Amino acid sequence: MNFPSDRVGQIPPYLFAEINKKKAEMIKSGIDIIDLGIGDPDLPTPKHIIEKLAEEAQIPKNLKYPSFVGCSEFKQAVADFYLRQFGVELDPETEVLALIGSKEGIAHIVPTLIDPGDYVLIPDPSYPVYRMATLLANGQYYNMPLTKENHFQPDFEDIPKEILKCSKLMFLNYPGNPTAATVDLPFFKEAIDFARKHLIPIAHDSAYNMVTFDSYKAPSILQVEGAKEIAVEFGSLSKTYSMTGFRIGYVVGNREIIKALSILKSNTDTGQFTPIQKAAAFALNSDQSCVAEYNRIYKDRMTAMLNGLQSIGIEVEPPKGSFFIWAPVPNRYTSAEFVTSVLEQTGVIITPGTAFGPSGEGYFRVSLSVASDRLNAAVNRIKEKVKIAIN
Ligand SMILES: Cc1ncc(COP(=O)(O)O)c(C=O)c1O
Repeated sequence: MNFPSDRVGQIPPYLFAEINKKKAEMIKSGIDIIDLGIGDPDLPTPKHIIEKLAEEAQIPKNLKYPSFVGCSEFKQAVADFYLRQFGVELDPETEVLALIGSKEGIAHIVPTLIDPGDYVLIPDPSYPVYRMATLLANGQYYNMPLTKENHFQPDFEDIPKEILKCSKLMFLNYPGNPTAATVDLPFFKEAIDFARKHLIPIAHDSAYNMVTFDSYKAPSILQVEGAKEIAVEFGSLSKTYSMTGFRIGYVVGNREIIKALSILKSNTDTGQFTPIQKAAAFALNSDQSCVAEYNRIYKDRMTAMLNGLQSIGIEVEPPKGSFFIWAPVPNRYTSAEFVTSVLEQTGVIITPGTAFGPSGEGYFRVSLSVASDRLNAAVNRIKEKVKIAIN
């Protein structure tokens, strides 16, 4: 066979395959599985957003090919959101681009900025798309380890000089998936100083920027003076408004990078369905009480799960953002062993840290995006049934 291409052929096998096989077997034998592996919000898309989508879908001109770069209402709504939330001014025409979900833009920014053989600096562990998009662009990646000791923030000075010379892009992601780590503005300043010194563009993935708890407010990297010279920021409506299936996101910041990305996009896709863009603009412009309510629900689930983990001896600092818990596996287990043991003892699926990069070894991720009654059932099973091997 002459297919697939070498590019596709090098993509590693699906890391969840083993767990999915076990899950299927257990369901077949009648076991009630609670899946805390997925990161797809269970909470409904607020009604006013769905109603707006339905209304806009009745207008014939909205059903034509959409604009490549996004409709002006959506881009203006993103610019207004940035001014309101972060005090950052954006020109909606040149500094905002609509995306078919932020994943699409994250995947496309890589071939926009790198040539075959170039390096991309990637947090480890992180959202697997950064790594896979780099492989698909025939690039190479350098893993920047995120550890408890470095507060899940890369040590920029540890990156070897010879790698820096060939690096054309750095990804960052806060609040982080899977680490749930958050940062304050001084970290972004340090990152921008480093990027400007070494002329390496930064793509900050802020998919969870509005999923935050208590008084914590996630900063935008564009709040750093001069950030627009070297950085772009990806954002998404998926998590904030439970709109994962809508497929709508955006990228903002450096206008040259955005222009280059729009050239690549205009030759590969045709923009998101206009009624979806208009519904997304409406979501951003409307009353935000749904966001506060959803965050309260995630926080309650987080507290319940942290409590369950504590009862089996696993201690985690309460995260300030995202709907994930990133927790250390007990001594003497690998990530895969612990996840398998929890599944066998309780029927609860959690994700091994190694699914997100080699530095994920020793950790597991719990997603809180399942209905609260199921989440509480999982907590009870963990409390009652998980026995940790001691030798
Ligand atoms: C860190 C991170 N970035 C980006 C995305 C992509 O989100 P979307 O394409 O729905 O905007 C996800 C989705 O899970 C994510 O976890």
